[in-house]
Amino acid sequence: HHTSMETIVELCKRRGIIFQSSEIYGGLRGAWDYGPLGVALKDNVRNAWRKSMFQLRDDVVPLEASILMNPQVWEASGHVGGFTDPLVECSNCNTRHREDQLETNKKGEVYCPSCGQAGTFGEAKAFNLMFRTFVGPTEDTAAQVWLRPETAQGMFVDFAHVQLTARKKIPFGIGQIGRSFRNEITPRNFIFRVREFEQMEMEFFCKPGTDEEWHAYWIRQRYDWYRNLGLRTDNIRIRPHADDELSHYSKGTVDIEYRFPMGWGEIEGIANRGNFDLTQHAEHSGKDLSYFDQAADERYLPYVIEPAAGVDRIALTFLVDAYRQEEAPTAKGGTETRTVLKLHPEIAPVKVAVLPLSKKDTLTPTAREVNDLLKPHFANVDYDEAGQIGRRYRRQDEVGTPFCVTVDFETVEDDRAVTVRDRDTMTQERIPIEKLVGYLQERFAQ
Ligand code: GAP
Repeated sequence: HHTSMETIVELCKRRGIIFQSSEIYGGLRGAWDYGPLGVALKDNVRNAWRKSMFQLRDDVVPLEASILMNPQVWEASGHVGGFTDPLVECSNCNTRHREDQLETNKKGEVYCPSCGQAGTFGEAKAFNLMFRTFVGPTEDTAAQVWLRPETAQGMFVDFAHVQLTARKKIPFGIGQIGRSFRNEITPRNFIFRVREFEQMEMEFFCKPGTDEEWHAYWIRQRYDWYRNLGLRTDNIRIRPHADDELSHYSKGTVDIEYRFPMGWGEIEGIANRGNFDLTQHAEHSGKDLSYFDQAADERYLPYVIEPAAGVDRIALTFLVDAYRQEEAPTAKGGTETRTVLKLHPEIAPVKVAVLPLSKKDTLTPTAREVNDLLKPHFANVDYDEAGQIGRRYRRQDEVGTPFCVTVDFETVEDDRAVTVRDRDTMTQERIPIEKLVGYLQERFAQ
């Protein structure tokens, strides 16, 4: 692979993009914090998803369900009974591991990744991945609730309400972005597998019999979304699940996978859930969740196609895919290695940086004026006047800022124009301040 995970982790830490949660206390496994640039990065991922799901379509509506739900939801969904990983304990060092993640040594024996001993595992036990907590002051089973392990169930239990009040006809979808929690036994690979994360899920309700067509449609849509945001074709693929991999609810699942430094990994699953969920919830709640299709003059439980993605995992994907080290010319005519994140402009955390050529009083007012001019038009404009201009360019390259605008003495004394530097080509163009907003908007639209 072109880069290692350590390189990405180091860059994220150094630039305050993503770092360990509660670091001053030694952190907490499987929990990460997003600093200013990380917040911007995640916002951009969410916004790109929202745009494709809601803004550009008439047939998908948003929802924000609560994280805590009536515990019967998770009985009905099958999570209480079946959302488990097989756990084994090493009889030598007493550490616990996921049975399906164990590897064999050269002799073909399963060994413990903690102590290295082979043949020390007994029978696997089912370990439920849901976090539990209590509502109200008594900590007994009657008060026990779960932190949701997926956002999907919100869309199923609210299906009838949303369909009626939004006056939607089938086929249509309900989508939401929100936190989910899983007590993963082995959180690992930075933000790839964590215990608290964010999902972007959409449940598309359609007429039975049209489900396979819609499944194919959504696989294509979602693949194109990644491609349009610049992921390299060599690094993404579509992989259908084998029958023995399918979740308890699935008639068929396809994963969109990315080639991470540690190997291919799922970034999004697109499942055909059939009518499993609505059937379960109708049975457990005693409510009729069927839909009357006026055009077809029949009543049925809709089938569901579900594209389910993770914000954190996609943010990681974009960072890994964008990372480059390349030779760049220096001002003195030599070359040096620069680190650059070639992020799609829509995903880049900082959109434009305003850099006065030097920290001189003569330049500051005009540079500030340019900064104020840009701020209403671009999601995140960074103003930086500290240090050598070359070093400031490198700092922006390293976080993927598509454009740097420099204000120099000519700007102030002569032409009221600024220099716009392109991140990828490093070419510079002189643009009048009065035309700057329009010029940049056009470049972003390209
Ligand atoms: N409702 C279906 C569902 O939740 P999933 O494949 O378990 O399906 C969907 O999760 C997506 O959520 C994954 O493709 C991944 O991007 C993200 N995800 C799941 N578990 C995660 C974890 N422990 N850490 C980070 N992201 C996770």
